[in-house]
Amino acid sequence: MMGRTTDRLRSMAGGGGVRLLLASSVLLHLGLAGCGDVGGPVVNVYSHRHYDTDQALFDRFAETTGIRVRVVSASADELIARLEREGDASPADVLITVDAGRLHRAKERGLLRPVESRILSNSIPPHLRDPDGYWFGLTQRARILAYARDRVDATRLTDYESLTNPEWEGRILTRSSENIYNVSLLASIVAVHGSDGATEWARGVVANFARPPRGNDTDQIRDVAAGVGDVAIVNTYYIGRLLNAEDEASRELVGNIGIIFPNQGGRGTHINVSGAGVTAHAPNPEHALELLEFMVSEEAQRAFAEANFEYPVREDIRWAPALEDWGTFQTDTLSLERLGELNNDAVIIFDRVGWR
Ligand SMILES: [Fe+2]
Repeated sequence: MMGRTTDRLRSMAGGGGVRLLLASSVLLHLGLAGCGDVGGPVVNVYSHRHYDTDQALFDRFAETTGIRVRVVSASADELIARLEREGDASPADVLITVDAGRLHRAKERGLLRPVESRILSNSIPPHLRDPDGYWFGLTQRARILAYARDRVDATRLTDYESLTNPEWEGRILTRSSENIYNVSLLASIVAVHGSDGATEWARGVVANFARPPRGNDTDQIRDVAAGVGDVAIVNTYYIGRLLNAEDEASRELVGNIGIIFPNQGGRGTHINVSGAGVTAHAPNPEHALELLEFMVSEEAQRAFAEANFEYPVREDIRWAPALEDWGTFQTDTLSLERLGELNNDAVIIFDRVGWR
């Protein structure tokens, strides 16, 4: 199947000769990877992810396919703005972000193109990719509750819905509503409880804040450790990073912290993805597709996820040992595309209830 899809894209791009020509014209006018460029097949990646292990994986891809990967790293918002600015002159072939909300936004703005690949659709569960093939989840991250083991009875905190109970007044820590992770979490609540129910939920959480939202997820964990609050809403990998940090002080931060995968037995824990799509004006669309297909190979799934203590999207891949300790859990299988559609509703609700 890979051959057929690749051939289809190759004919769209006008064959190998044109492909090489495109690649070198890109080199001339953008100088993506700086000096040392020597021509030959390339794929240009705009990535929000910036882990050394990602680069090692791209090097492996180059070794296997002969296609060099050139990466521009910036925040997803900056990369989306850049794609819009560059239009059809953009050298980018692939956009990688760390949440489906941004990929959805890129799709809506016409910055991605649909691709068809049996390898991608067979490897990635349907709720973790765009139904029309505009983007694909590559790793999963769960939004969980981290709590102070000595101050919280975990049996009182089973669901996201528990966070509005009066017993948590002055005890909940979270980052700003501008952050896409919280927007997507609230969107998942809109999907289950409707706009009114989600407004009530958000209002209830705000009433229980230990302090106004600030910082990133690591700061929430830090503040649980410091006793500013008792329960934090964070992504799993922030805990993984601290647990495995080189410095003892970071590891000590999580010494007293327990984690809860919310809504087990119900709809499951809210998850998001690191994911990628082929750009609308990709000069090397066939290389882009090959890279995406490589990213769901067993080797890449493990390395790409382990780079940041995330979970592979493929169900048959072993997890990193750090994650196996936490055990398996049920994930919310609500389509991430649906979450993207509900993002605007979530932003309005945050505003309405004063979750800054
Ligand atoms: Fe993050």
